[in-house]
Amino acid sequence: MAKMAAYAVESGEDAFRKIFKFYKRRNPPPDFSDVIDFSRSAPSDQVIPALLDPGAVSDEEAARVGLRPVRDWRAFGLPGYPGFMFITNPFLLGSKPFWVRQCLKTYPQKPNVCNLDMHMSPSDTQDIWDKSVGGLSHNQRQPKTLLDRLRWVTLGYHYNWDTKTYSASHYTPFPADLHSLSFHITSACGFPGFNPQAGILNYYRSDSSLGIHVDESELDHSRPLLSFSFGKSAIFLLGGTRRQDPPTAMYMHSGDVMVMSGQSRLLYHAVPRIVAAPQGHPALEASGSSRHGSVVEPLSEQDWAVCSRYSHSSRVNVTVRQVLAPGQSFPETPSSH
Ligand code: SIN
Repeated sequence: MAKMAAYAVESGEDAFRKIFKFYKRRNPPPDFSDVIDFSRSAPSDQVIPALLDPGAVSDEEAARVGLRPVRDWRAFGLPGYPGFMFITNPFLLGSKPFWVRQCLKTYPQKPNVCNLDMHMSPSDTQDIWDKSVGGLSHNQRQPKTLLDRLRWVTLGYHYNWDTKTYSASHYTPFPADLHSLSFHITSACGFPGFNPQAGILNYYRSDSSLGIHVDESELDHSRPLLSFSFGKSAIFLLGGTRRQDPPTAMYMHSGDVMVMSGQSRLLYHAVPRIVAAPQGHPALEASGSSRHGSVVEPLSEQDWAVCSRYSHSSRVNVTVRQVLAPGQSFPETPSSH
């Protein structure tokens, strides 16, 4: 953070925007040497070990959702960011393809909501996967499939992008498998009883970015926000509570998980750039075999081929949120009468 901070402080007002533009720049490409890579990190003055609770999740419970035993996870924090936790790919080898398939094939299905619903009829967006497989574009000239055009999906309490709110009336059941995965990860991070109620999936092409924002629409900010990354890597910027605070840049690789809680729950953040997965860190490995009672199923050959092709050209991020505290309800609004 130190070198970047010096760069930004000179730059005046909106230090976050300056650094966002720095990493988004194509020509000349930026210098990535300040970007923290937790997958290669050992504890230092930049990166500190984070405490997990291995007793909170049994090895069987972890394996059921495709996770390694908690004692084998590598978890880090950042000095100056209390409540921020970064877990480098805690997934068992062969289980990520299942979660990628859920993101590409299952979660975009009705009753969940996606960007394509904004200008297409429900019957046209009914079978995004079936209408896309076989035709997933290899090059710019082919017409884009629905999967290529997928930008976001919402789950549970469906986020309203215009009003930046959730509402009681726009809810469909949150996926049980993602609920279970999120519940176990947050338990291991010291947040028992996390109740995932809303999810936002963001789909990134190689040239996509996500603007500077704070996730504050949830009514209960005492619960963590969980973020999963699959496919290509991203540069993630984590700032402060003010746009003048210079952000810290870090890589998010396929399988990495972030937990933002406490003072880090309401910080500015953004994704200025998607980058290639590094050598030795494949965007997607082969699908593994199924264990008895596991949520994670092996993929058919065709599903794996589509997920693998997608993961090499694109990225999916899943954020999972608890919207309401136990017993809390949405405030009454005039339109609810
Ligand atoms: C988000 O902030 O909502 C998503 C961030 C990411 O894609 O890593």
